[in-house]
Amino acid sequence: MDTIAQKILMALTGLFLCLFLVVHLVGNLPLLMPLPAAQLRFNAYSEALSHNPLIRLASLVTLASVLVHTLVSLVLTRRNRSARSVRYAVARPAETSPWYARRMGLLGTILLLFLLVHMRTFWWEYKFGEVGVDAAGRRDLYGVVVAAFQAEWYTALYVLCMGALGYHLLHGVASASRTLGLHHRRYGRWLEGLGITFAVGVSAGFAVLPVFVYIMRG
Ligand code: HEM
Repeated sequence: MDTIAQKILMALTGLFLCLFLVVHLVGNLPLLMPLPAAQLRFNAYSEALSHNPLIRLASLVTLASVLVHTLVSLVLTRRNRSARSVRYAVARPAETSPWYARRMGLLGTILLLFLLVHMRTFWWEYKFGEVGVDAAGRRDLYGVVVAAFQAEWYTALYVLCMGALGYHLLHGVASASRTLGLHHRRYGRWLEGLGITFAVGVSAGFAVLPVFVYIMRG
């Protein structure tokens, strides 16, 4: 596969994961409701999702997108390194690109490790753990989330990882829109603003949830 096709694959899987993030964030918003609505709504939503075959398919596509996005990024990085076998004598990358654009690999690795921890805490626990039931008799995923964010270090880890997510999205969305040729002369600035709003909004939105649960449900 040539470099352009690989970049397009990175952009498409990245944009699909952005869509997942929006749906996931909206699905987690009931956590902010007053009790007992927060618990009942959150558990009802999780149960509805886990029984929906379309959502199960979307889960598989999400997992596949994470894998493809990671593997292709490794191939592209290797290619870029071997294409430039002699390093620049004077390298001043800071003058041409911000630090987070040059650290996408590091930010992506942090997110991958975050995902492993995240899936172990919530997804694994919900599927295979001993989870209690709420007043409506549904598996109490809400209780699992509240219990996880009682620990200061775990809450702080989430907030830090959401910082990494924000910077990864900041460069990722801009880069994907350039790869897909969405950078129109007239709408370029508008699109750039939309990308920044998305990156800041999604990462800040996710960071608020653990902090809210830690402070309000502790
Ligand atoms: C910070 C606030 C977040 C909370 C409270 C949260 C909560 C949850 C919960 C409760 C589940 C289990 C749901 C289930 O299996 O039915 C889950 C699954 C998942 N979360 Fe999160 N999440 C958060 C942030 C994130 C972020 C930032 C990402 C990605 C970078 C992410 C990626 C995932 C994935 C991939 C799954 C598995 C979904 C599936 O089974 O299709 N989550 N999350």
